[in-house]
Amino acid sequence: KRTIRIGLLGFGTVGQGVWKHLQADQTALEYRLGAKLELVRAAARDLTKSRAVQPRPDQLTDDPFSIVDDPNIDIVCELIGGTTLARELTLRALKNGKTVVTANKALISEFGEEIFAVARESNTHYFFEASVAGGIPIIKTLREGLVANRFPQIYGILNGTSNYILTRMEREGLSFEDTLNDARALGYVEADESLDLDGWDAAHKAVILAYLAHGKWVKLDDMVVEGIRDITTGDIAYAKELGYKIKLLAVIRRDFTQNTVSVRLHPALIAKQELIAQVDEVFNGISLTGDVVGTTILVGRGAGQDATASAVISDIADAVAALLGAPPPIISEEDVDIYRALADEV
Ligand code: NDP
Ligand code: HSE
Repeated sequence: KRTIRIGLLGFGTVGQGVWKHLQADQTALEYRLGAKLELVRAAARDLTKSRAVQPRPDQLTDDPFSIVDDPNIDIVCELIGGTTLARELTLRALKNGKTVVTANKALISEFGEEIFAVARESNTHYFFEASVAGGIPIIKTLREGLVANRFPQIYGILNGTSNYILTRMEREGLSFEDTLNDARALGYVEADESLDLDGWDAAHKAVILAYLAHGKWVKLDDMVVEGIRDITTGDIAYAKELGYKIKLLAVIRRDFTQNTVSVRLHPALIAKQELIAQVDEVFNGISLTGDVVGTTILVGRGAGQDATASAVISDIADAVAALLGAPPPIISEEDVDIYRALADEV
């Protein structure tokens, strides 16, 4: 069996989750994938930090470039976050011919076009299942399961932190600040918290979904983006009295007659009997209306170490399959041509 070697850029909440679960499930994964897997090294900033998951000292480095430049490493998982160093490392890894897996929605929503182009030019692949809705396989659903469809509407809850905060505000009457600390401790919150609290994180995810569904990169500047920072327990109690819940919703609409795609992100009142209104705590929920299948709703954990590791490992599995010669499920020329044709229509 071929040995596929994996390096991690970033060893925080998600990186440690991936390491832990890859180690725990290694034998079963190797059997299912038909390859040996070797976790080579992970990069972190501060090597003196005490961590729940502790690799051998030689498996941890503070030089992420040593991973992207290591000729023995086949798959690089970018779990550092941000758009500067992460972009540089991603482009370099792809140019070095590595397959890259990421959870970084900020990077894709801003630089996806460039990164996908470099992946194609380098004849390699860029996988990003964990970038939207944590453990929900929404990327594979759009690209594979619902490939027969065009989508007049996709909407849903795409940020676990805000949903967790809104749920606890509703159930316990706690303030926004009271719940934020718990969300931090649970590993849900971005290093830059305003991404979660001001709606940008969910907006990044909506941009990615809009691209997958419609082949068009919608600019954040063209979107209404409003987070949950100004929602009070009073607002939530009043909504409840009227039979509604307040949820932070992403709404992606395609008008096929006008040929437009619109994306917006803001708190919304949803009647409490609606399925999406019942998606609470850290769960995300996405309603996809396809012209062939009708409406499909996916619900699952939208953030946190284990759910996100599950999505990253699913991409590692696809990366292994691609390295072993299976047809790549994503970012093929064919996909790109379809997206271009769709985008031309818009
Ligand atoms: P963390 O902040 O927990 O981890 C980031 C890691 O990157 C840390 O290990 C940090 O090192 C390391 N790092 C930062 N800068 C450098 C550097 N210059 N050189 C080497 N290492 C560096 O973030 P998360 O794990 O929560 O998130 C990672 C990515 O996953 C982000 O893109 C995030 O948006 C995404 N994501 C997160 C989810 C979650 O639930 N947390 C869910 C879905 C996606 P050190 O540990 O020493 O500080
Ligand atoms: N901070 C993000 C959230 C992590 O709360 O949804 C998952 O992308």
